[in-house]
Amino acid sequence: MKIERFMTEAGDNTRIDGFPIRLRPVKSADRDQLFAWRNDPWLISFSTSGKTVEKQDHADWFGSVLNESDCVLYIILTERDTPSGAIRFDRLNDSSAMTSVFLSREYTGKGYGELALRDGCQMVFQEWQIKEISGVIKNQNTASISAFLKAGFSSMPADSSTPPEHSLFVLNRTFGHRFD
Ligand SMILES: CC(C)(COP(=O)(O)OP(=O)(O)OC[C@H]1O[C@@H](n2cnc3c(N)ncnc32)[C@H](O)[C@@H]1OP(=O)(O)O)[C@@H](O)C(=O)NCCC(=O)NCCS
Repeated sequence: MKIERFMTEAGDNTRIDGFPIRLRPVKSADRDQLFAWRNDPWLISFSTSGKTVEKQDHADWFGSVLNESDCVLYIILTERDTPSGAIRFDRLNDSSAMTSVFLSREYTGKGYGELALRDGCQMVFQEWQIKEISGVIKNQNTASISAFLKAGFSSMPADSSTPPEHSLFVLNRTFGHRFD
């Protein structure tokens, strides 16, 4: 995971209601917190798989994320630098990446998701010369759809990789910022 150099580019100056959010690169010590979030029944209800994972499978996945240059994972720090969720980017090819984001339930509804998407996409566009970042969201997940739209994503027709009952949202590199 090659992320150190853009840690300070955008992650420490976003504020809402007086609170900053900050994105920090994931570290080994986050493994158990991520495992707890991964198996949180409320969060699972929004996931595409809808399944829990075993601890060993999570550990294997986490180890690969730490070593994978085509995946970046940030912990979302909110009030008093509290770890409140995570945002992930997977590079799909030379021109595109996929994102997914979640917050622990008590930190939802405060606009943090939109801010994490804005900051995270900006950081990833600076690091990777990709043209677009996409997100796939369950059709009934209105909170997520709203957060993605507020962060500048546009609704696009589903493509062959969009799961049933999901919608596709895309943010282009040129949206609102210069990323170069
Ligand atoms: C999706 C998610 C990251 C959005 O982040 P967020 O910070 O909650 O987003 P916002 O605060 O901008 O809320 C988005 C909308 O949902 C509503 N909402 C979200 N959480 C809410 C809550 N707990 N109570 C009431 N309304 C809520 C907001 O009022 C807002 O509506 P509006 O845009 O019409 O004003 C977050 O809600 C989340 O983690 N949800 C569970 C996991 C998930 O769905 N992940 C995305 C999978 S694609």
